[in-house]
Amino acid sequence: MTDIKINDKIFRKSITGEEINSQISRIAASIDSDYKGKKPLLLGVLNGCFMFASDLMKQLHIECEISFVKLSSYQGTTTTGTVNEVMGLSESVTGRDIIIVEDIVDTGLTMQRMIETLNAQKPASVAIASLFVKPARLKVPVDVKYSAFTIPDRFIVGYGLDYDGLGRNLPDIYDAVEE
Ligand code: IMP
Repeated sequence: MTDIKINDKIFRKSITGEEINSQISRIAASIDSDYKGKKPLLLGVLNGCFMFASDLMKQLHIECEISFVKLSSYQGTTTTGTVNEVMGLSESVTGRDIIIVEDIVDTGLTMQRMIETLNAQKPASVAIASLFVKPARLKVPVDVKYSAFTIPDRFIVGYGLDYDGLGRNLPDIYDAVEE
């Protein structure tokens, strides 16, 4: 068992980088087949998505583009309950097939806001690819078409996900240990 400390909290390794990679290969194969002949726009939600978006895009073989937006609702391990505006959507999404690339769907409020914002611009389609989903925490129904891992209600760090800004550089996933 590998434990690490970030600020005041202990985290324990739960998912390896290799496991993440093989799940990303599975998702990439599904996207390749579902979007054959199309040219989807991947829309990454910063900051947490950056490793997932990069590794996912490397494994896609279809023509695709990528852009990023920012929108954050978290401070520490508890949600503030308020979701901010979507910032940085410079691309036109009208008529495009959009795949939102997210690190984790927790309450679902971020994805709900993203979808509302995108739908106002009449895209051809919108799908969500999220590395993690915490179903026990969902406050609103969110349809995550491509997800790598369904996890229990636990705070995680690593592979782009942070605790107070730290831990994003870890190649594996670590669960917060309850004390
Ligand atoms: P939601 O709007 O509640 O679904 O929150 C989604 C955002 O909260 C994610 O994009 C993450 O930035 C953050 N988040 C939720 N759960 C975790 C976690 O376990 N670790 C790190 N960040 C998290």
